[in-house]
Amino acid sequence: MNKALQTISFTVNGSPFTTQVGPGTMLLDLLRGSLGLTGTKEGCGEGECGACTVIVDGMAVNSCLYPALELQGRTLLTIEGLSREPGQLSLIQRAFVDEGAIQCGFCTPGMIMKAHALLLRNPAPGEREIQDALLGNLCRCTGYVQIVRAIRRAAEAGQEPPANVRERQHE
Ligand code: FES
Ligand code: FES
Repeated sequence: MNKALQTISFTVNGSPFTTQVGPGTMLLDLLRGSLGLTGTKEGCGEGECGACTVIVDGMAVNSCLYPALELQGRTLLTIEGLSREPGQLSLIQRAFVDEGAIQCGFCTPGMIMKAHALLLRNPAPGEREIQDALLGNLCRCTGYVQIVRAIRRAAEAGQEPPANVRERQHE
């Protein structure tokens, strides 16, 4: 048995999960590895691009830099947990499609999670607030205009928290 491993328990997309992780394990590795949640993407791996954005206790974090050990007792939301029903798009995902805010799509899960976190704390953000919220998220296809438009569209339609996920705002 590896003594460096520690047991952590947390909630992911509404379901409890317990696993063992070491001090060097990052949340992104856990997501794409033992959790099998590959919707979250790895871009830079260094906290620069935002492709790996997920929400922990209501706050957007770069999962490539977030130590998995920190998850103990927390609530994690990933792109897979946004929709109310399997196979259906959430309101904000639908807005991205409708506004043509997806090109290669690599940045999209991170953009959507960052937007979701913004709308959780501010359901009616202005254009400047949306732009500021996206500062840490890079789109190599440079589709920023459509992305901002999609987030405005989702805000105007009203934020829909996922039915199966209890959000806990960061204290
Ligand atoms: S992969 Fe995490 S910020 Fe780029
Ligand atoms: S849509 Fe290609 S990186 Fe953003």
